[in-house]
Amino acid sequence: MTIRITPSILNADFGHIADEVARIPAADAIHIDVMDNHFVPNLTAGLPLVEAIRRSTTQMLDVHLMIEQPDRWAPAYAEAGAESVTFHLEAVRAPIRLARQLHSQGARVGAALNPATSITTVTGLLNEIDTVLLMTVEPGFGGQPFLDLVLPKITTLRNLVSAANLDIWVQVDGGVSAATIERCAEAGADTFVAGTAVFRTDDPNATVEALRYQAKAAVDRLVQAATVTG
Ligand code: DX5
Ligand code: ZN
Repeated sequence: MTIRITPSILNADFGHIADEVARIPAADAIHIDVMDNHFVPNLTAGLPLVEAIRRSTTQMLDVHLMIEQPDRWAPAYAEAGAESVTFHLEAVRAPIRLARQLHSQGARVGAALNPATSITTVTGLLNEIDTVLLMTVEPGFGGQPFLDLVLPKITTLRNLVSAANLDIWVQVDGGVSAATIERCAEAGADTFVAGTAVFRTDDPNATVEALRYQAKAAVDRLVQAATVTG
C-alpha cells in the first residue's frame, strides 16, 4: 500500500504561502482548503490562491472544496491546474456528471464525506472517482481534535475498495498527527491530510517524513500480523 502525506496549508503563513509550500518538498501533494462561509462557517481563499500556488510549485495540488455549488465551481479549479479536486457529497447536486466533467479536464476526482455522513452515500460513485476523503473533524477549521468515531467508517470504506479491487485513495482529513495517524493507517487509510501537525512544527518537512514513516510502520505491523495468523 502506498502511503501519501498531503499537508494542508490552512494553518501555514498565508502571507508567505509560496515559501511555506517550498518548506515541504517531501509532501505527496499540497492540500488546499477552499471554504466559502456557506457550506462551512469559515472563509479562506479561492481560485486566486490556487492559481498563485500553481505558479509557485510543481507539486501536486489537492484542492478540497468546502463550498456550496461545487457543480458550478469545481471545473474552474481543475482549469486552474489542480491535479485533484474534491467536492463534498453533502453539497453536490450531480456527482457523476461533475466527476466525468473533472476527468475530462484531466483532474483526479475526490468525494468528501463529513463525519456523520454514511459511507452508503458514496458506494454508487466508487467507479467514477479516484479518492474518498473521510473527514475526521467537522469541516471548517484546522487544529480541531480527531474524531475516533470515524475509524470504523475508514475500515468499511477500505473493505469496499479492496473487495471491488479499485485503485481509490482512502484519505483522512482533520486532527491527523503523530498521535492519531497510526490508528488511521491501521483502520485502512493510505492518504493523510495534516495541517497543524505539520506547519506548527520547527521542521515541517521532517514532520512529513516522520508521519509517513509512522503510517508505513503501522501498515507493516498489520501485514506482519496477518502473515503470522495466516
Ligand atoms: C478542515 C480542513 C482540513 C484541516 C486540517 O475543514 O478540511 O484540511 O485544514 O487541519 P488539521 O490537520 O490541523 O486538523
Ligand atoms: Zn481539507
